[in-house]
Amino acid sequence: MSSAQQVEDTTKNYQLFIDGKWVDAESGKTFSTPNPATGELLAEVAEADKVDIDKAVSAARRAFEGKWSKMSARDRGRLLYKLSQLIDEHSAELAAIETADNGKPIKESLYVDIPQVVENFEYFAGWATKIEGETIPVPGKMFNYTLREPIGVCGQIIPWNFPLLMAAWKLAPALAAGNTVVLKPAEQTPVGAMELAKLIQEAGFPEGVVNVVPGYGETAGAALAGHPGIDKVAFTGSTEVGKLIAKSAADNLTKVSLELGGKAPNIVFADSDLDQAVAGAMMGIFYNQGQVCCAGSRLFVEESVKDEFLSKLSERAERIAVGDPMDKATQMGPQVSEEQLNRIKGYVEIARGEGAAVLVGGESPKLEGAFQKGYFFRPTIFADVNNKMRVAQEEIFGPVVSVISFTDEEDLIKQANDTIYGLSAGIWTQDITRAHRFAKEIKAGVVWINTYNMFNAASPFGGYKQSGYGREMGRHALDLYTQVKSVWVDLSGRPIGWFGN
Ligand code: NAI
Ligand code: MG
Repeated sequence: MSSAQQVEDTTKNYQLFIDGKWVDAESGKTFSTPNPATGELLAEVAEADKVDIDKAVSAARRAFEGKWSKMSARDRGRLLYKLSQLIDEHSAELAAIETADNGKPIKESLYVDIPQVVENFEYFAGWATKIEGETIPVPGKMFNYTLREPIGVCGQIIPWNFPLLMAAWKLAPALAAGNTVVLKPAEQTPVGAMELAKLIQEAGFPEGVVNVVPGYGETAGAALAGHPGIDKVAFTGSTEVGKLIAKSAADNLTKVSLELGGKAPNIVFADSDLDQAVAGAMMGIFYNQGQVCCAGSRLFVEESVKDEFLSKLSERAERIAVGDPMDKATQMGPQVSEEQLNRIKGYVEIARGEGAAVLVGGESPKLEGAFQKGYFFRPTIFADVNNKMRVAQEEIFGPVVSVISFTDEEDLIKQANDTIYGLSAGIWTQDITRAHRFAKEIKAGVVWINTYNMFNAASPFGGYKQSGYGREMGRHALDLYTQVKSVWVDLSGRPIGWFGN
């Protein structure tokens, strides 16, 4: 099947998924979403606004208080497992949709994104029956135990860089713990979540347990985050919007978890295996077109190996296959949107203005045919950057790496930590003492040693500082979606003697 046909096959219309039914937006409005590889129309999607969010929140509340709370943990787990199997069975179609919607290479959708979606639902399916309270050894004739209960209705707002995977990170732990959800996908990439809703329906989740309401951030997203009817809001996206969400949630003291931006240091010491480090630097910044919150966008390289390292890195970056994302040989597709492309171009100008050298890239590639209208950008390396420059401090979210050289380890740690962010970090060295010293001293939620971008559903992920709060995946994710109740029972059968009567 040619890629053109693939795109045609995925051109669809979607309604909102509320209370187990497919419905138009109350306003009747829709918005269109393009295929970023060509700029052509991919899908026309119902546009949720405040009234639709109200409906979805009410449906989620009814489901929470009704069927869902009466279902056994085992049955909840079985539903999640069923969903993971359905996703697995449909992985080829879902991967093609994800690539058409987001632009990421099909090799990534098929072999990374969708398998990780399956893994997350499978992993949390297992947790449903293992969420337990404790008995506490309190003194006297008293019995004290805790109950771990779901929080209630969760509003979940997700970004466009890993559309289906972000949906899975959010939905799987929330549902395993017995919550209900109103999910708002990003306006740039709503399609995968709508297809996921079909599988949620097919798996047999009771109506209203999951509601999917695509729409814009300023309208649908803001209405959801500030809704008095939700008990928790979970957000992944920009630090700027994360702050808005925390503020609007404050009005109702809604619980909040945030997974925000990053400007991760990826550090190459002279004693590292340079070829491995080059591959790791590329994985760190060019994967998913650099649209990764934990991207290794500040590449610190020890001065003594800088020239050798940069010549290897430049040579390999030049060879990256940029083009049709449906082609299995493609290593980089388009950026997600024209807006993101322009943002990246803006940073190239900023870098030049700040005195950084553009070693490789810095412009869009020359592509043929339909792809001329796609939002492509070449792998780009800025050399001679210092950590104070804007290109070293601001999240660019593109295939653009800033190379900073260093000589002294202590000063390096200071620079690595000199950022408002703290999501992740990488280090390349053969010195295990140094590697673990670094792991302790870096202020980041994830540290990779001689590797980069490793993930597993069982391993927690989340940020320090302005990269957010809360940990997704692993057992820690359950803390975001449960609350603890402490229950006291008198075992003496005697009245409390305190007032002496
Ligand atoms: P964004 O933070 O505006 O969008 C993320 C999600 O939040 C989308 O679903 C959007 O509809 C929603 N949203 C936007 N404004 C909202 C509001 N006022 N209230 C509630 N929800 C709202 O990110 P955007 O504008 O797409 O990208 C801008 C920059 O954000 C990127 O260049 C990148 O630096 C960063 N970003 C970081 C991500 C991450 O994974 N940490 C993911 C996406 C973007
Ligand atoms: Mg925005």
